[in-house]
Amino acid sequence: MHYNDVKYLWIAICIGIAILIGVTPRSCVAQGSWEILVHNAGIASMHTAVTHFGTAVLLDRTDVGASKIALPNGNCRNDPNDLSLKRDCTAHSVLFTPGSNGIRPLTIATDTWCSSGQFVSNGTLVQTGGDFDGNKKVRYFSPCPPGGACDWVESKDQNLQQGRWYATNQLLPDGRQAVVGGRDSNAVEFIPSNGQAPLDLPFLRHTRDSQMDNFYPFVHLLPDDNLFIFANKDSILYNYKTNTVVRDYPTLPGEPRNYPSAGSSVMLPLLASQEFGVAQVLVCGGSQFGAFLKPSAFSPASQTCGRMTVTDPNPTWTIENMPTRRNMGDMILLPTRDVLIINGASDGCQGWGNAKTPVLNPFLYKPSAAAGKRFSTLTATTIPRVYHSTANLLPDGRILVAGSNTHQFYTFTGNFPTELRIEAFSPAYLSGKKQKYRPTIVNAPAFVGYNSRFTITVTLLTAPKGLLELNLASAPFVTHSFAQGQRMLNLAVTKQARRAGGSVRITATAPPNAVIAPSAYYMLFVVNRGIPSVGAWVHVG
Ligand SMILES: *[C@@H]1O[C@H](CO)[C@@H](O)[C@H](O)[C@H]1NC(C)=O
Repeated sequence: MHYNDVKYLWIAICIGIAILIGVTPRSCVAQGSWEILVHNAGIASMHTAVTHFGTAVLLDRTDVGASKIALPNGNCRNDPNDLSLKRDCTAHSVLFTPGSNGIRPLTIATDTWCSSGQFVSNGTLVQTGGDFDGNKKVRYFSPCPPGGACDWVESKDQNLQQGRWYATNQLLPDGRQAVVGGRDSNAVEFIPSNGQAPLDLPFLRHTRDSQMDNFYPFVHLLPDDNLFIFANKDSILYNYKTNTVVRDYPTLPGEPRNYPSAGSSVMLPLLASQEFGVAQVLVCGGSQFGAFLKPSAFSPASQTCGRMTVTDPNPTWTIENMPTRRNMGDMILLPTRDVLIINGASDGCQGWGNAKTPVLNPFLYKPSAAAGKRFSTLTATTIPRVYHSTANLLPDGRILVAGSNTHQFYTFTGNFPTELRIEAFSPAYLSGKKQKYRPTIVNAPAFVGYNSRFTITVTLLTAPKGLLELNLASAPFVTHSFAQGQRMLNLAVTKQARRAGGSVRITATAPPNAVIAPSAYYMLFVVNRGIPSVGAWVHVG
């Protein structure tokens, strides 16, 4: 049966059952919509990050062969050790501008293959590691307004102390970033190092099995200023200041979850109503152990998620089932505080050609719904996004979807050709009749200081019911199914006043400190009855 036939058959059966049991059949209809924004981005994005100008940096590796976009100014890159082209005049990073959908080539000098990064306080993307000549590199991208000429700068004065390939970075309260693990290191180091040597972390060694499974660990900065680090099936609470493991968490049942088994993970939004003190981690999907050792078996992927309140004294994982199996999914915190799971496959694992059945439907996960009622299945794309694909939240609430290249070198023929198209997924909150609830921010502060009171003004077509919701979202560095540095804060609204002319003035309290919200640019969303505004960039510090 063709995919569409299955879909319509499912909708028909679902509506039939819904009518029989007397509920509205609305949830049977797939939700959200897809749009192709760019047919040729020039590169397949392996790493994507949205800057505080709303542009998106797309980044691949340099030794992937000729891309479909030339380097700026007729430049070329000479590298006698390049796997594919010793002289390469094509770009491997581009800047995408939503709205105009423009693409501008950027200049990367060393290999960024399976690297990591974070935006630091001033909005600069600090990007680390990769393979070959890029293994110990630190690179900076200081974003500029659309139309500007900003480009990558490779650091001359700063290198990583250990080679980093498949590491995970997390912005810290002191403004530095921790670089955790990877293929070539079982240690944590800091950028800038300020003279500090890497900290050996045996947990990273212990979680490595015969097919690895500990690359790109899931790292979340918790409200107690420790790092939650998850690798393979295990996790720890790690004090990065004293290099001690504060506690070991229980093993997550099921499949391995990190590279090459690619599940994904988010820390659910921290809430002002809980004084930002309760952190829950959700880990979803993964691949069967052995899928990487015997890729031809295309073993069925994991169908489970584990959810745990990692700030509880004795927490355990609660297991939930996704609607279908998935690995290589990206998990994104939506402005509504729900989780979107998008991209990936239902068999195999990460690696070149190691999966054959893409999952085209995103899932929505509603953390606050009753257990068993949290998942729904959303509208499918037509474009498979498997290995080396990305998904990022845009300020306008859409999800930017890029990449997918399951080949060592750019290959535009056969199954799963290297994917140069950029798409946007618009969740249902952007559609149709609910738009009458959509708030428009007319005035928001450019900067909010910790613990300060601030005001923001919105206009609404219909009067709000109760208090509006204010959610602050970080801009993560997304690669290999994990959004490094992703976090969301639900802020306290202390006052709300309707003003002459129909606008609404909201008074809210900024995050309390840099542990809850490391200084950076965040997207501030006002949410009315589940419909978010366009986010305003706010510098928090
Ligand atoms: C922002 O911070 C980075 C990293 O510390 C630094 O390299 C860069 O020069 C800073 N940019 C500005 C505009 O201050």
